[in-house]
Amino acid sequence: MQADEDLPHEALEAYKALSDEEKLEFNRHDLAELMSQFLHGEQGALLVASQLTSCAPTFNAKLYAASQTFDEARHVEVFNRYLQEKIGMHYPINKNLKALLDKILTDPRWDLKFIGMQIIIEGLALAAFQMLKQLSKDPLLTQLLHYVIRDEARHVTFGINYLEDFVKTLTDEEREERAEFAFEACVISRERLINTRAMQKYLKMSEDEAREFTLQTSANNTFRNFLFSRVIPNLSRIGLLTDNVRPKFDELGLLEFEHAPDDFECDWNELEKPLENFDEISA
Ligand SMILES: [Fe+2]
Ligand SMILES: [Fe+2]
Repeated sequence: MQADEDLPHEALEAYKALSDEEKLEFNRHDLAELMSQFLHGEQGALLVASQLTSCAPTFNAKLYAASQTFDEARHVEVFNRYLQEKIGMHYPINKNLKALLDKILTDPRWDLKFIGMQIIIEGLALAAFQMLKQLSKDPLLTQLLHYVIRDEARHVTFGINYLEDFVKTLTDEEREERAEFAFEACVISRERLINTRAMQKYLKMSEDEAREFTLQTSANNTFRNFLFSRVIPNLSRIGLLTDNVRPKFDELGLLEFEHAPDDFECDWNELEKPLENFDEISA
C-alpha cells in the first residue's frame, strides 16, 4: 500500500536499499498488516452486532442487528480467506483497535455500542475500504471490497437514522456523555490508523521511530484525517457534535469536515439493486 513517495526521507533510503525481492516482501507485509486490521475490525463488528441482537431496545432494531450479524460474518470470512489464500499471512490486532473494541464490547449500554460501532468504526472502515478499492490493482480485491462497501454503507445509514431520533430523547447530561465517548473513540481510532510492524521489520526501525516517521508524512496525515470526512458530519447529524466537544475536534484538525456530505439520506434504489456482476464493478 505504501508507495515510495509516501515514505519520509530516512525510510525512503532504507526502502531503496532493499533488493527487489525484499521490496515485494515489504509491500506484502504492509498490505497484510493493513488488511489484518480490517479482519479484526470485522470480527469486532460481528461480536457487537450479535450483542445488539439481544440488547437493542426495539424489535425492529433487534431484527436489523440480526441481519447485520450475518453480514459481518461474511466479511470476516472474505477478509480471512483473502489474507490466508492470497497474501499468505495474518498480523495480530493493533493495540488501539483492541482497546476500542474492548471498550465497546464490555460497556453495558446498548447505545454506546451502537455509536461506537455504527458511526465511528464502520464510518472509518467505509472510507478506508473505498480508498483501498481505488488503489487496488487486484480485480478480486476490488470486487470483494465493492460488495463489503455496499453492506457497510447500509450499516452506517441505519445507525444514523436510528440514532438521530434516539439522541433527541436524552437529557443534556446524557448527550454530553455520549458526545465525549464519541470523541474519545475518534482519538483512539486516529492512533489505530498507524500501522508500524512491517516498517519495523523491513526498514529496521523501532516502534516509536516508525510511528514518528509515519506521522511526519503529510500524505499520511491527510489520509488519516480524510477517513474522518464521513464520521464528523454523521456525528453532527445525530446531535453529538456538541459545543463542548467541537473545540477538541478542532484541535485534531477534524472539524473542517463538519459540513461535508453526511450519510443520512438513504438511497433505497442504490441499496436494493441486485448485486453487480464482475464486469460492472470498477474502482
Ligand atoms: Fe463489516
Ligand atoms: Fe458493518
